[in-house]
Amino acid sequence: MTFLKAQNISKSFGGVHAVENVSIEVPENSIFALIGPNGAGKSTLLNLLSGIYQPDAGQLYFQEQNLIGLPAHRRVRLGLARTFQKIRLFKQLTLLENVRAGFHIHQDEPFWKFLAYGSAGRFDDEARELLDFVGLASHAGERAGALPYGQQRMLEIARALATRPRLFMLDEPAAGLNGSEVDFLLDRLTRIAGRGITLVVVEHNMDLVMNVAHRVYVMDHGEQLFEGAPREVQANPRVIEAYLGGEFT
Ligand SMILES: Nc1ncnc2c1ncn2[C@@H]1O[C@H](COP(=O)(O)OP(=O)(O)OP(=O)(O)O)[C@@H](O)[C@H]1O
Ligand SMILES: [Mg+2]
Repeated sequence: MTFLKAQNISKSFGGVHAVENVSIEVPENSIFALIGPNGAGKSTLLNLLSGIYQPDAGQLYFQEQNLIGLPAHRRVRLGLARTFQKIRLFKQLTLLENVRAGFHIHQDEPFWKFLAYGSAGRFDDEARELLDFVGLASHAGERAGALPYGQQRMLEIARALATRPRLFMLDEPAAGLNGSEVDFLLDRLTRIAGRGITLVVVEHNMDLVMNVAHRVYVMDHGEQLFEGAPREVQANPRVIEAYLGGEFT
């Protein structure tokens, strides 16, 4: 059984074929990287996998369950979590409240009631552990919007982990991070994977990709350019020409 499987999925916006006939298979307990030039369709593919968009054509399965037509929040309940290229946080809420919000996905209570009337409080030990995991425990009571950019990215990871994912998709987690923040991120991603969470990572930082990924899928103009192990990707002339340039030659 394939953990996550997309078969021939396509999505157009007007005349733009953002994703064209893409098929991927992500095995459980693996780290799958999605790379390619700007506008290649990586975020669109992630949006299709997570239910932000529905594809124009193709099939999508998570553990044999058909995902087509299933809205984003239902996919989160199945165990699919994600972060966004453009950070999405509750900027006016505290870090702790942001992570609490992640726990709401498995509750039936209305969202604001859950947050406002204390029922979210029973997840606070776990929420603080997650903040600690992303290096933000000492900032728990601060407003999310007041955090520096790199820490906002880590907070988004903590909030996504609060949904207890089995598949975690990250859209450019290293964007805007400095060198030591990237090292920390790399270590955390490895640990998340070590907990048995399968990762799909869209990323331009090739050091990070080549260090963590088991498989790399290269997109260009909405289509598959190449797929292989990190070594094969780095050595592939078409990938080098379209994307990597001289970086790994
Ligand atoms: N909501 C949308 N409406 C119209 N066009 C879109 C939309 N989303 C994406 N596109 C177009 O689809 C193509 C693929 O965009 P996408 O954001 O998926 O690329 P990407 O690989 O994530 O690029 P980047 O590395 O810059 O984030 C681009 O031409 C983009 O302009
Ligand atoms: Mg993108």
